[in-house]
Amino acid sequence: MPVPARADGHALTTLPCYRPGPNRERAAELNFGRSEWGLACRGMMTASVLSPKLAFVMVGLPARGKTFIARKMARYLSWLGYSTQVFNVGTYRRARLGSRQHHSFFDPQNEAARSARREVALAALDDMLAFLNGGGDIGIYDATNNTRERRALVCSRCEKDKLEVVFVESICNDLAIVETNIRATKARSPDYEGVPEEQAVADFRLRIAHYERGYEEVSESEGAFVKIIDAGRKMAIHRIQGYLLTRVVHFLLNLHIQPRSVWLTRHGESTFNVLGRIGGDAPLSDAGRLYAIELASVVKDRVGEPVAVWTSTLRRTIETAELLGLPFRAWRALDEIDAGVCDGMTYAEIATAMPHEYNARATDKFRYRYPRGESYQDIIQRLEPVIFEIEREESPVLIIGHQAILRALYAYMMDMPPQECPFVSVPLHVVLELEPTAYGCNARSIDLPPPPRTPAPFSSPRLD
Ligand code: F6P
Repeated sequence: MPVPARADGHALTTLPCYRPGPNRERAAELNFGRSEWGLACRGMMTASVLSPKLAFVMVGLPARGKTFIARKMARYLSWLGYSTQVFNVGTYRRARLGSRQHHSFFDPQNEAARSARREVALAALDDMLAFLNGGGDIGIYDATNNTRERRALVCSRCEKDKLEVVFVESICNDLAIVETNIRATKARSPDYEGVPEEQAVADFRLRIAHYERGYEEVSESEGAFVKIIDAGRKMAIHRIQGYLLTRVVHFLLNLHIQPRSVWLTRHGESTFNVLGRIGGDAPLSDAGRLYAIELASVVKDRVGEPVAVWTSTLRRTIETAELLGLPFRAWRALDEIDAGVCDGMTYAEIATAMPHEYNARATDKFRYRYPRGESYQDIIQRLEPVIFEIEREESPVLIIGHQAILRALYAYMMDMPPQECPFVSVPLHVVLELEPTAYGCNARSIDLPPPPRTPAPFSSPRLD
């Protein structure tokens, strides 16, 4: 990948966005037939085992952030290990009926268009039911569902398949938010490709007006719901029970729509890094201290203030943060993966002394749990509060962390299947700048001097 030079000499690279491949759902399936010690035998309870079979049904007028919320929920639930998929009726409409529909297409008086729209809505619903009946855990049905009649139809189909339904309604009466949303997402959608912005905005406002006429808010008699009012200013819940649903509500409580970036970096090189030893609580090397000074200048120039700086409780991240000269918060949840009995060893030493462990990890790095330590799957669970705080924070966030931890956070931010996170490249002395967008996240990396002297990373299975 070409690395453009920056005026200050730091190399800056735009990272490719993650695109889910056809194997995404397959990757989420769990294989409990394995017998390797260190894998299934250690009794890992995963999300999919609980198999909730849940349908979240979005409700709300156009431009109320339904797709934003649906995608955030899907990203969070997928990251926790639930096989989750969003079924966006707008995408079905564009695929089957073409984009560039005039606002009159959404007029409830337009009988022909109404029946065409109903057909695509049901096609999306059928696909969601097939997904849930075929092994998926959670479906998110992303459509306006703005009448009681439409919601009753959706519910009756879900109930026939014994699926639990929860409505997620976004009500927004703050017209400034609606206007920003129309301009940021709708006027740029494939529906208005090539249409001048003002014309697109005017047409979209008329489209909203068609939906407004028939809109009925979700009532208590319809079942469980979460209502998000004015982009999170207020929330109302009804019949929300159980661990998963309360977590989802907790997650939704922290969402906001303020743009801000998240910066991820490992600590400066430590004396353990130089020796290739994992874990431990070593101080920075001379090169690591130089990196922290370089990082301070990047934070000053590019991140600005106020910035929320978070570290782990380990010395190497704290020493890096101290050299920034900014207040920071040390989180235990951000401590590096616990390598258990292997803590302080090199990969070569593990391969020699415990070849079975080394091979088990190389075979399934995501689920492998170090004896008396952790797996990547474990660290995802303990990072959940960090995710909530990342979502809640409105200032830029700089996390000075560790390799495994930052891989898991990167996977969340970039909506990668969690199983792939152990293979994300997060080298020392590189800063990752993540910029959440309406429906995704842009990533760039900045290489800072000096180059670390790190020995080879954990890699392929050792052959005995
Ligand atoms: O080597 C540095 C380190 O942060 C170790 O402390 C940790 O065990 C390791 O990286 C995680 O990387 P991997 O999962 O590739 O072994």
